Amino acid sequence: MTLETEKIYDHALEVLKENDRGSYTVPTKGLYPFQWNWDSCLTALGQFHYDEARAWTEIETLFANQWADGMVPHIVFHVYSDGYFPGPDVWDTKRPIATSGITQPPVAGFAIKRLYDRAADKAAAATRARALLPRIDAWHRWFYEMRDPGGEGLVAILHPWESGRDNSIDWDEAFERVPTDGVEPYVRRDTQHADPAHRPTKEQYDRYLYLVQLFRSLGWDNSKLHDASPFKVVDPGFNAILIRSMNDLADLAEELGELEIARVNRERAAKGLAALDSLWSDNHGQYLCRDRITGELIESASIGGILPAFAAVPKARAQEIARTIERWSTQVKYIIPSHDPADARFEPKRYWRAPAWLVMNYMIQDGLRAVGEVAVADHIVKSSLELITRSGFAEYYDPTTGEPCGGGRFTWTAAMVIEFLEAA
Ligand code: DGY
Repeated sequence: MTLETEKIYDHALEVLKENDRGSYTVPTKGLYPFQWNWDSCLTALGQFHYDEARAWTEIETLFANQWADGMVPHIVFHVYSDGYFPGPDVWDTKRPIATSGITQPPVAGFAIKRLYDRAADKAAAATRARALLPRIDAWHRWFYEMRDPGGEGLVAILHPWESGRDNSIDWDEAFERVPTDGVEPYVRRDTQHADPAHRPTKEQYDRYLYLVQLFRSLGWDNSKLHDASPFKVVDPGFNAILIRSMNDLADLAEELGELEIARVNRERAAKGLAALDSLWSDNHGQYLCRDRITGELIESASIGGILPAFAAVPKARAQEIARTIERWSTQVKYIIPSHDPADARFEPKRYWRAPAWLVMNYMIQDGLRAVGEVAVADHIVKSSLELITRSGFAEYYDPTTGEPCGGGRFTWTAAMVIEFLEAA
């Protein structure tokens, strides 16, 4: 490492440690004061490099709050804080430790496989992995039971927050169908911590809240939510993460002698992968979302359709995705923007409507490297580190200028930087 990269590495460690609450890590002070599901799983990858045992604890704490039906919630409200809205009282899920009532992209299977593969103490890692295997498998099963009742092999998200890409252009049209009448009065807290111009709009928040209230009125009974929801979208990125996690979990289960867990995960992943191809668009050179209510593909070329490079999609598809990233990269300074820069709806500073995110970069370069698209993968890593050098550990970045946006001193951004530097 050069002196400069050493400094960046040390700074990343500092960010991880300052957001560490002992058994879980907050995404960033102020804006997100609790434990978030996929943040934690990706954060564990960074923690591993300075404390292997602590990395496992991060994921175990999340799974200690898994619901009886198998769902792993998107937020665990460990310690009270009035700095975030909607807090536990709004969700009202009646859990022993308060949680939200929706889920998030299932990266846990991928994360524990990576922790296990790299473990110095294999016996300790095997014990911890063995305890998590059935829990992660139950979460995977939950997706197909509750979010794919028609058995098509692809799961739907019922709330934009589940995708992790809250205000993506992908949801705009389908979201119009969500009414805003009857939403209880509320005060947003996010816009007190971050520039409102970088955050979702008031109209989007009204709709986010409408869905929360609807699901709450159904007692958070997951067997009812899918059919009742006016918002049901099949997101290729979300499904790709699930497919990758199922394949990784299957490999790990095989290694640890849990053959039944391996078999069912392998089977679901194969079905998912075959079904994913129905979302491919030759026109855009990437996958698209499908609105499960209309049955139509959504004309929105976002990073959600680039992310399948992370799963074992056919090599020709991954190569085409690499060409799409190259095309996008001619229109922005830093990659990967979270939306096609040629789209008139591209908003360079607004959250998931264009900004670049290091977690996306990490997963996509990982998949592209595996199929031999090394030059594009290296370009993604180079761009990621340039963003850090220019703008610090922000939540996300304007891809046209590199300006930092959203929250500052962000945990998963720091974790991804450590991963990039460790691999260099
Ligand atoms: C937020 O509050 O912005 C989160 O992304 C929802 O989980």
